[in-house]
Amino acid sequence: MEDLILVTGGAGFIGSNFVLQWIAEESSRVLNLDKLTYAGNLHNLHSVESHPRYYFQQGDIVDRDLVRTLLERERPRAIVHFAAESHVDRSIHGPDDFIRTNVNGTFSLLEEARAYWSALAESDRQSFRFLHVSTDEVYGSLSPSDPAFCETTPYAPNSPYSASKAASDHLARAYYHTYKLPVLTTNCSNNYGPYQFPEKLIPLMILNACQGKALPVYGDGQNVRDWLFVEDHCRAIRSVLASGRAGECYCIGGANEQKNLYIVEALCRLLDELRPNDPVVPHSQLVTFVKDRPGHDRRYAMDTRKIAGELNWHPVETFESGIRKTVRWYLEHEDWVQDVTSGSYRQWMAKHYATEL
Ligand code: NAD
Ligand code: DAU
Repeated sequence: MEDLILVTGGAGFIGSNFVLQWIAEESSRVLNLDKLTYAGNLHNLHSVESHPRYYFQQGDIVDRDLVRTLLERERPRAIVHFAAESHVDRSIHGPDDFIRTNVNGTFSLLEEARAYWSALAESDRQSFRFLHVSTDEVYGSLSPSDPAFCETTPYAPNSPYSASKAASDHLARAYYHTYKLPVLTTNCSNNYGPYQFPEKLIPLMILNACQGKALPVYGDGQNVRDWLFVEDHCRAIRSVLASGRAGECYCIGGANEQKNLYIVEALCRLLDELRPNDPVVPHSQLVTFVKDRPGHDRRYAMDTRKIAGELNWHPVETFESGIRKTVRWYLEHEDWVQDVTSGSYRQWMAKHYATEL
């Protein structure tokens, strides 16, 4: 095997943060396989595009011939699998792509990884890893008094997105148990930070608030999410890849449960400070309650004792420091924002929020 990892979906939000961190802090080479859907953006990786340890291949994880060719040619020591359709609201409008990429795509990667891994020398078979990046949403929804999700919580996905991720987690699990392919699965809570596509809550609210546009809060705004700064998630994945036990799952979270309305109001307060001359100040005047997301999970929370105890992973960033960095990043990267909010983004906003705002 080569001292190379294959990353799928490395041009998306978390994948690009991971590739940037990997190049800065590790010594192996990285091959990034990404289809470049609306959510994939090579500008995220501009700073490493000429780096001698970084390579890019545009392609679809469903394409087994392509995956086979890449594995046989590049001979990676690990696969870190981020590629997915990731937005719950889009999965409600149109689930097909979610089944195709998240279920069939993961299946195709697992099958080709199994064939590649089976033909390796014994010592390489021992050290090879397939790290499957998943989500807390597979566990369903908590009531206010329920204990946080942990690695043994039964699966109960509620959206087409989370059902497709749950299906992919089950496949990953089965490939370890049946074939002994050294699979690791991580289930993480909501990430925020640089390069997040502005269909998701935090960047959407930042960009709308700056332009004096309505801030669409679903339902009563009391749904709870656990928020983790994306670079902490990337560190956790690197720890699991380096030292996690094959066949195990690791829950990752920020110990930072917040109601959506609190998040939106916190963003508004930061923007009042950083953008006092915006069209509407205080920005919180823009908060608009809109129709709830169908099947909207009420609360997520993560019990991270396993990864803390086994791998000594803990988040570095507090919510206060992380959210300030994030807001500043969006304010300082107008070109990136212009680039991703053209064309298809406008169509999505018009379609999804049409009847609401
Ligand atoms: P994203 O939507 O920002 O990026 C997904 C990337 O995958 C894009 O670059 C896209 O081009 C690529 N991709 C999509 N379909 C593909 C295909 N068929 N073949 C190859 N590439 C394809 O997603 P994200 O928010 O960065 O999430 C990455 C992973 O982390 C996903 O598996 C997601 O389920 C998981 N996750 C996300 C969060 C979160 O808060 N964003 C939290 C926990 C877990
Ligand atoms: O929990 C991990 C998951 O977090 C990941 O698996 C998903 O890929 C990622 O998209 C994210 O899912 P959410 O649905 O939690 O994230 P989103 O940013 O879409 O929404 C966060 C919360 O904010 C959710 O309760 C819905 C609400 N919301 C969202 C949008 C886009 C609003 O109130 N208004 C909005 O306009």
